[in-house]
Amino acid sequence: MNDTTRQQPTLVLNGTGKIGRRVVARLTARGLPVRIGARSGEPRFDWEDRATWAPVLDGVGSAYVSHYWDAIPGAAETLGSFAELAVARGVPRLVLASGRGEEEVDRAERAVRDSGAELTVLHSTWFAQNFSESYWQEQVQSNELTLPAGDTPEPFVDADDIADVAVAALTDDRHIGAVYELTGPRLLTFAEAVRDISRAVGREIRYIPISIEDFAAAAAAQGVPSEVVELLTYIFGETLDGRNARLADGVQRALGRAPRDFRDYARDAAATGVWNPRATQVA
Ligand SMILES: NC(=O)c1ccc[n+]([C@@H]2O[C@H](COP(=O)([O-])OP(=O)(O)OC[C@H]3O[C@@H](n4cnc5c(N)ncnc54)[C@H](OP(=O)(O)O)[C@@H]3O)[C@@H](O)[C@H]2O)c1
Repeated sequence: MNDTTRQQPTLVLNGTGKIGRRVVARLTARGLPVRIGARSGEPRFDWEDRATWAPVLDGVGSAYVSHYWDAIPGAAETLGSFAELAVARGVPRLVLASGRGEEEVDRAERAVRDSGAELTVLHSTWFAQNFSESYWQEQVQSNELTLPAGDTPEPFVDADDIADVAVAALTDDRHIGAVYELTGPRLLTFAEAVRDISRAVGREIRYIPISIEDFAAAAAAQGVPSEVVELLTYIFGETLDGRNARLADGVQRALGRAPRDFRDYARDAAATGVWNPRATQVA
C-alpha cells in the first residue's frame, strides 16, 4: 500500500459478515477509508446483479473479495468475472478469501488468478464463530447441537485471526503472491469443541451426530429449500470426510504469531452472553 492507495477506500465484500465486518473494523481503527460491499452497503453491491459491480469498484485502491457462498455452482466463474472487472477498472490488488479443500474453491482461486490480479489468497477452514454468530448459535443456546459431522477432527479457526491476516495482506504488499491456509492450533472433533463450550458456559451442551441422510430429511421437513439442503449436505460431506483434518501454518506465516485457541474463543464468546439459554416463551 502506497500513499495514494492509503487515501483510497478499500472495498470489503461481505463487509457485514463474520469476517468482513472484522476487516472493516480493523481498517477503520487504523484510520483507513473503507467501502462496504454488501446488499445493505452504499452503493449497494449484489453478486446476483452485475450492474452493481462497477460502482463499488469506483475509486477504490484494493479489495477484499469473498463470495457470500463460495460452494454454490457458478461461484468460481462469478468470482473470476468480478476479478477481471476489478483489474480492468484499475483495482489489481485483491485479497481472495474462501474455504479449504473443496473443488469449487480451487476453481475460484484459478479463475481469480487468471484475471492477472496482484493476489493474496486465504483458504480458511470452518470458523469457530459458526457456534456463536451464525448457524449453530441457537442450538448451543438450547443445549443440543445436532449435526452430520461424525467424529472427524476439524481445526476450527478464529474469525479474528482470519481478519488479522486479511488486513495484513491488504495493507502490506509483501503478501502479494502468498497463499495462506488458515486453521486454528488444535484439531477438535465437534464433541470436543462442544465440551470446550460447555466448560466456558458452565452447563452441559450435547453434541448429537446424525447421518447426512437424516440431517437432509430434518432440514427438508423444517422447510429449508431443496437447493440449500443439497448445498449443506455437499459441504458437510466434502469438508468433513477427513481431508481437512490437519493443521496448517498460514496464521504463523502471515502474522508471525500462533493462531488463537478454541478454548480462548469459547471463553470470550461465553462472556458476551451469546450462549445464554433462550428465554422460555410465556403463553
Ligand atoms: N462459515 C465458515 O465456517 C466458512 C469457512 C470457510 C469458508 N467460508 C466461506 O466464506 C464466505 C463467507 O461466509 P460467512 O460464513 O462469513 O458468511 P456470513 O457471515 O453469513 O456473511 C455473508 C455476507 O455476504 C453478504 N451477502 C449475502 N448475499 C449477498 C449477495 N447476493 N450479494 C452481495 N453480498 C451478499 C452478506 O451481506 P448482506 O446480507 O448485507 O448483503 C454478508 O456480509 C462464504 O463464501 C463461505 O462459503 C465459510
